[in-house]
Amino acid sequence: MGSWAGAGGCLLLSVATSTLILLTRPPGSWGARIIGGHEVAPHSRPYMASLRFQGQHHCGGFLLRARWVVSAAHCIKDRDPLAGLVVLGAHDLRVAETTQQVFSIQDAFTHPDYQPSTHANDICLLKLNVSAALGGAVGLLKLPRRGARPPKAGAWCQVNGWGAVSDFQDLPPGLMEAKVRVLGSDTCNNSWSGRLRPAMLCARSGDSRRRGFCSADSGGPLVCGSRAHGLVSFSGLWCGDPKYPDVYTQVSAFVTWIWGVIQQ
Ligand SMILES: *[C@@H]1O[C@H](CO)[C@@H](O)[C@H](O)[C@H]1NC(C)=O
Ligand SMILES: *[C@@H]1O[C@H](CO)[C@@H](O)[C@H](O)[C@H]1NC(C)=O
Repeated sequence: MGSWAGAGGCLLLSVATSTLILLTRPPGSWGARIIGGHEVAPHSRPYMASLRFQGQHHCGGFLLRARWVVSAAHCIKDRDPLAGLVVLGAHDLRVAETTQQVFSIQDAFTHPDYQPSTHANDICLLKLNVSAALGGAVGLLKLPRRGARPPKAGAWCQVNGWGAVSDFQDLPPGLMEAKVRVLGSDTCNNSWSGRLRPAMLCARSGDSRRRGFCSADSGGPLVCGSRAHGLVSFSGLWCGDPKYPDVYTQVSAFVTWIWGVIQQ
């Protein structure tokens, strides 16, 4: 939802206005931060990728193979993906860290059934121009096993991102993380007034505090039990709002598609 980041962050509009906006605009994308999270130890999440356009962080993603990054389809919608860059080995995006490796995108594959209006099948694969050099600061994250089910309601997972930490789009001092709990899809679908589609996974803070993701965190992984079970897809008007649970692409539903593209 990075494309909406210019809308000015987590705007505090009146409830009446917000309801109207939720009905007339694609959900999510208001503001740009991991809400209620903390900065992680540098390079402790070596699979995290930053997808950049025109020199600016736009979305997250994760490194699946030395030459392949998984991200959300909406991150490259209306853009020329081959004009983007992928940065690996980063912690603080504001500086050129010696651990950073920068790649061009040689090829991009959006899921053939991606539907921008409903966010269904919000996943893409980015092929880097060369293989990343794996090491301390750059590493792989596993997919769910073939045929694996999504994590059960109540399971704890973590989401990472470099989404801006202020309404003025300042980058955070380093990679951020929030712990969230998986929410049952029926409960989530009710909260979203029936707008949940198959192959989506919901999570929320699991307590009364606001916690979750925001716009420039899009495409980043939701890690449950050391595997990527979700990709940041969309959220409500207020980032981390428990009324509108955060919605992720359910990665386990795309394992066959992913390996099919990579092995092509
Ligand atoms: C890969 O892309 C990066 C970023 O554009 C560039 O610096 C590097 O030279 C490229 N590597 C090769 C082998 O083309
Ligand atoms: C969500 O609810 C709507 C309306 O009842 C239904 O059509 C849709 O299939 C549900 N989505 C999921 C993922 O169950």
